[in-house]
Amino acid sequence: MPAGDNYSTRPSSDALSEFAAAAAESLAERFQALRANLPPGTRLLAVSKGHPVEAIRALAGLGQRSFAESRLQEALPKQEALGDLAPLDWHFIGRLQANKVRPVLRQFGTIHSLDSLVLAERVARIAAEEGCQPAVFLQVKLRPDPSKTGFSAPELRQHWPQLRQLPGVRIVGLMTMAPLGLSADERRILFGECAALAQELGLAELSMGMSGDWPEAAAAGSTWVRLGSVLFGPKSCQG
Ligand SMILES: Cc1ncc(COP(=O)(O)O)c(C=O)c1O
Repeated sequence: MPAGDNYSTRPSSDALSEFAAAAAESLAERFQALRANLPPGTRLLAVSKGHPVEAIRALAGLGQRSFAESRLQEALPKQEALGDLAPLDWHFIGRLQANKVRPVLRQFGTIHSLDSLVLAERVARIAAEEGCQPAVFLQVKLRPDPSKTGFSAPELRQHWPQLRQLPGVRIVGLMTMAPLGLSADERRILFGECAALAQELGLAELSMGMSGDWPEAAAAGSTWVRLGSVLFGPKSCQG
């Protein structure tokens, strides 16, 4: 957006100045502001799902290396279009279907959504065949949420002895999402529980926090906040 405007008449309302302020806020400004507000130890994962290649390229030009996608068919053409850049660090955050494990392992170095023992065993087997060692986050679901998958805390403790011995996958941490409708206090408690569970299992990384709740997640010790709309603005392509 141009810095000034060409309107000859101004409705002189608060709404207009709010609009102008919002329009002037560029991707670069949002990126710098977010980075300035993240505590040390919390990294920014730019969720580029639903956002165009040009925006990814612009952020890469500003120094952002880590990007996340949740659908292979959307990610592949983007990754190809960005192939001229120094390699980016791609994270997979979507629901991982069994038949997509191999191509996901070929395109992504980190998976945030490993949500069952069966899937973890499959990832381990295919990673060995592919000769790669993906970093993975185990997705946990600490509150009822019909729209999400993930290990409950008891399930995770039960399967942990098998999970931790899987060859070929590096389990680096836990990932969680807060259900809609929780208060800020309830989210703080939830993220704190996830951090305590990771500590109990000896896992150093925490993938917690999205546009609507990243401050609480960061305060609870998140090491990766996954930010889409607060960084890129509203979705502009199919995601
Ligand atoms: C798993 C996951 N994490 C993070 C995000 C980013 O969400 P937001 O745009 O609210 O930051 C998404 C977006 O769909 C997502 O699916």
